[in-house]
Amino acid sequence: MSFAAAMLSLPRPLLVTCVYLLLLPGCQGRILGYTNGFHYQDISNGNGHGEIYFNGIRLHVESPQSSVSATRGSTVTLPCHYHYEPELTIPRKTRVKWSWLPANTMTPQVSADAFFKETEVMVAMGSRHRSYGSFRGRVRLRRSAPGDMSLVINELQVNDTGRYRCEVIDGLEDDSVTVDLELRGVVFPYYSQKGRYHYNFFRAQKECQDQDATLATFEQLFTAWEEGLDWCNAGWLADGTVQYPITIPRDGCGGKNLAPGLRSYGQRDRVLHRYDAFCFAASVKGTVYFLENTTKLNFTEAIQACSSDGSQIAKVGQLYAAWKLMGLDHCDAGWLADGSVRYPITKARANCGPSQPGVRSFGFPPQYLKFGVYCYRSMLCFNAGQIKPY
Ligand SMILES: *[C@@H]1O[C@H](CO)[C@@H](O)[C@H](O)[C@H]1NC(C)=O
Ligand SMILES: *[C@@H]1O[C@H](CO)[C@@H](O)[C@H](O)[C@H]1NC(C)=O
Ligand SMILES: *[C@@H]1O[C@H](CO)[C@@H](O)[C@H](O)[C@H]1NC(C)=O
Repeated sequence: MSFAAAMLSLPRPLLVTCVYLLLLPGCQGRILGYTNGFHYQDISNGNGHGEIYFNGIRLHVESPQSSVSATRGSTVTLPCHYHYEPELTIPRKTRVKWSWLPANTMTPQVSADAFFKETEVMVAMGSRHRSYGSFRGRVRLRRSAPGDMSLVINELQVNDTGRYRCEVIDGLEDDSVTVDLELRGVVFPYYSQKGRYHYNFFRAQKECQDQDATLATFEQLFTAWEEGLDWCNAGWLADGTVQYPITIPRDGCGGKNLAPGLRSYGQRDRVLHRYDAFCFAASVKGTVYFLENTTKLNFTEAIQACSSDGSQIAKVGQLYAAWKLMGLDHCDAGWLADGSVRYPITKARANCGPSQPGVRSFGFPPQYLKFGVYCYRSMLCFNAGQIKPY
């Protein structure tokens, strides 16, 4: 079962059912008489979407996509539409609420409580709307057709990922649908110059940030594992668990008899326990390139050379993102900002490392040694008369 499928089995329809039925005597789900002249039918026999049957008219909230993936900084649309069956003759006033469950709270360990941790993104009623928190001023409803309540998010940020819920309420009925938002990016293991298992959780968080990345979520590591990531050292994830991805079971990595998958140590002490980190680098708005036409450089010269070229020495996360998302392929080892030496290969070939694509690493060599260098140039754009680095 895929992670998405696992997440879809959240007990949400049941919860909604009970939230409604709790307002009524019994929470039994039988046909219940109600004194306001309307008639609630049994909804626990519904189609599992938590729909409420009301005077024969049903509100449907649907999304053609259960997940959407996008790149950092882009504009993304999370589809959501509603309609009535049969169509209404007298229009009802609807209220639309988009709420959100951030990705780092979406691990299976906490999914039982997850339903209750949603926070509001935007609420709209008629032409009025309001957005909240970090979404303020960045979100709107698409409204390209009647019933189109798709959410448009501008300037997508790394921490916008997670499960979004589109809920339509018309005073009598309520239905909702969820859409998962994933960021295109790449997960990479990161460890200290001193060797493995030197980071507590907070240090791991900072190390990823220093590489223009964030600690990976469980979902991101799971996707990376599905795509073949196999790494036998345990690393912190954004939810404070420590895990590692194994595609080929073997001794010393959970054993030969354990099925492939993510091996988890569960939640560890964020201060006391030390591991590596799994970082997630989203696409970069800029270019990573190998600096051509220079002699080999020591580390200090490498930093200087990029700067003389009008750019900066690239960070590890930027190199991984350029490799994975832009197909950067270059068979020369180069310095990176953290003092490591690596090179990106998308088409494996002789004399360029193993037979699979990947970012090859020479670890952290002494800084007087001479290599090439990878530089990063951010794109500039004009914004209200200012030059703003993206
Ligand atoms: C997400 O990241 C942005 C900057 O990248 C920050 O301003 C914002 O507060 C963060 N939001 C949350 C919910 O952590
Ligand atoms: C490097 O130098 C060669 C010849 O001097 C030139 O043809 C080439 O365009 C240069 N490459 C870059 C990236 O500047
Ligand atoms: C790199 O070489 C320069 C001389 O070109 C020297 O001043 C500097 O100390 C060297 N850096 C390292 C880390 O060896």
